[in-house]
Amino acid sequence: MKKNKILVCLTGGIALYKAASVVRGLVKAGFDLEIIMTATAQKFVAPLTFSSLIKRPVYTDEDWFTAADVLHIKLADWADAVIVIPATADILAKMAGGSADNLVTASLLASRAPKYVIPAMNEKMLTAPATQRNLQQLSADGVKILKPAKGLLAEGYSGYGRLPEPAEILTWLTKQLAVIDKQQDLQGKCVLISAGSTVEPLDPVRYLSNNSTGKMGFSIAQAAQQRGAEVILVAGPNHLALPTGVNYQPVKTAQQMEQKMLEFYPQADFVIMAAAVADFRPMRTAEQKIKKTGLDQLTLELVRNPDILLELGNRKQQQLLVGFAAETQQLLANATAKMQRKKVDLLVANDVSRADVGFGTSQNEVVFLRPQADPQLVSKRSKSAIADKIFDLLLDLDHQRRK
Ligand SMILES: Cc1cc2nc3c(=O)[nH]c(=O)nc-3n(C[C@H](O)[C@H](O)[C@H](O)COP(=O)(O)O)c2cc1C
Repeated sequence: MKKNKILVCLTGGIALYKAASVVRGLVKAGFDLEIIMTATAQKFVAPLTFSSLIKRPVYTDEDWFTAADVLHIKLADWADAVIVIPATADILAKMAGGSADNLVTASLLASRAPKYVIPAMNEKMLTAPATQRNLQQLSADGVKILKPAKGLLAEGYSGYGRLPEPAEILTWLTKQLAVIDKQQDLQGKCVLISAGSTVEPLDPVRYLSNNSTGKMGFSIAQAAQQRGAEVILVAGPNHLALPTGVNYQPVKTAQQMEQKMLEFYPQADFVIMAAAVADFRPMRTAEQKIKKTGLDQLTLELVRNPDILLELGNRKQQQLLVGFAAETQQLLANATAKMQRKKVDLLVANDVSRADVGFGTSQNEVVFLRPQADPQLVSKRSKSAIADKIFDLLLDLDHQRRK
């Protein structure tokens, strides 16, 4: 069933007049809207503007205290998504603090639906430490925030804090809302994912690592979460924003990653090793920083790290296991050998020597290799589109084996 019920919360900022175009765009796109206005919002634009656009009354605090039912719970439960536009500094503070002192704040607090916030305010209010703290808190709570634009502010000078143009807001919202409309076909599945690189310390300040940024693994985790899975993400050090709603397990070394993967393995249905695990680690980690004094050369002795994918393959029970192969030459031959050795159900092979795809980029081109099947090229596309392809295939395999 299409999820198209949106609760729009309007708060008291000077950019409120622009929200009318956004509301009109959402109505035109076929969304079913309910609107709540704060008392301050009604001082900027009359409710009549918005009720005319949605062809029904908008809610205010007066309705809160006169409605027969508990209006904030009714609206919160009704909505598939909640939008706050323009979001004032005040509403950001109240949302971050869990306030419920009017119909807008109480509905936001009661709602479990995804929330989309579009702030607009003077640059000095936006950059105030308190506002920045509130934005960070909201982001950590899973609220999606559209960054304010730079341009002429109501005060007559240029700066950050402007509400982006309605067309830009509508594009952003449409993209975000398409995600919540995704099929929940991974509901009931536990998906265990490893991501990023591992770091192997040489001494307290130096380490061996590789170029993996974790983007592929994080995209897989986000896709699984959006399709309704319980997601456990074991990740090496990275600079990425945490996908919302996942059980995040940060690790540093290959040995720590192995320990976490084995800990969660028994409960997992689908396991995806997207991490670029260091094959070797220094034999010894110096307790103090290694000094260069008197040294012309330094020889490092390395030992093999655990082969996590091989170990998972050997312990396989109900799990469907996916490995990644990052190759710089003879992609298919090397990847096929790896698939057979590691007993994986799917090997995703990518050529990391190319600059346009692979490590650090947001796109990838891969080949799917499966036992007793022809290689399947998945042409260049976003990493989240590749993640969805992986889950489509895993669900297929899962379905076939249950027949
Ligand atoms: C003329 C005027 C313009 C304002 N513009 C903004 C604004 O653009 N952004 C903002 O965060 N607050 C703005 N404020 C302050 C809010 O209206 C004020 O914080 C109010 O309490 C917000 O209430 P609400 O969040 O419940 O709607 C403005 C106030 C006035 C009087």
